[in-house]
Amino acid sequence: MIEGIALTKRYQKGLPPVLEDASIGIEAGETVGLVGPSGGGKTTLGKVLIGIVRPDRGSVRFRGQDVWACGLTGKKWYRRLNQMVLQDPLASLNPRLKISELLEEGLRIHQHEMSLNSAGNRKSLIERMLDTVELSPALLPRCPGEVSGGQRQRVAIARALALRPEFLVLDEPFSSLDVISRRGISRVIRAIQREGGTSLLIISHDRHLVDRLCGKVYHLQDGRLRTEAD
Ligand SMILES: Nc1ncnc2c1ncn2[C@@H]1O[C@H](COP(=O)(O)OP(=O)(O)OP(=O)(O)O)[C@@H](O)[C@H]1O
Ligand SMILES: [Mg+2]
Repeated sequence: MIEGIALTKRYQKGLPPVLEDASIGIEAGETVGLVGPSGGGKTTLGKVLIGIVRPDRGSVRFRGQDVWACGLTGKKWYRRLNQMVLQDPLASLNPRLKISELLEEGLRIHQHEMSLNSAGNRKSLIERMLDTVELSPALLPRCPGEVSGGQRQRVAIARALALRPEFLVLDEPFSSLDVISRRGISRVIRAIQREGGTSLLIISHDRHLVDRLCGKVYHLQDGRLRTEAD
């Protein structure tokens, strides 16, 4: 489904590469974990795999097509199908928009392709997403700064999920959450897995949760990517 082949990425000349000859494959519907020390390149790898950061060398393939060689990153359908929930939802969600607006924003951009031309259709999809992420509709009129960290994380996940991605990267979905909220996010991930149709890459420091949620776990350190079996 999604494949990174011999990926190398260096942000700055003279510094060691953040990714070096890194290869990873994720099947349709599979959940893969990515662990490793801070600054090890996990977020970078996620961004390279969904096509928002271009690798210096190597290729990313989506459904067998070379993403950069085929110009897929310029295509709306490709961008919709490859989503990433960024590490810090407080920074990535526009603080001035209400949660209802944040959830509707992406749907409006992709409404024709998703056959969501009426506001009523979009509203019912948003209601379903709120249900999946266990958020109360009472939060819809609030802004991201007016809800808890766990609720904000769920808003960010609902926003990405509403677009029905085939590949979804969750970057540190548990960080800065208490135990109860972590459990809530784990339940949400299990619900996504049960629904099927989405390949997941979960980036996390929490080894215990990653082991419980992921079939395969990669470790990224000093630019080198290994599976636990290597
Ligand atoms: N846009 C950028 N420009 C220059 N350097 C960057 C950029 N993004 C990341 N880096 C550097 O690349 C390295 C890897 O960063 P990255 O965010 O991918 O690591 P990470 O494993 O996600 O870390 P953390 O666990 O702290 O989130 C770091 O040294 C970081 O400073
Ligand atoms: Mg990171």
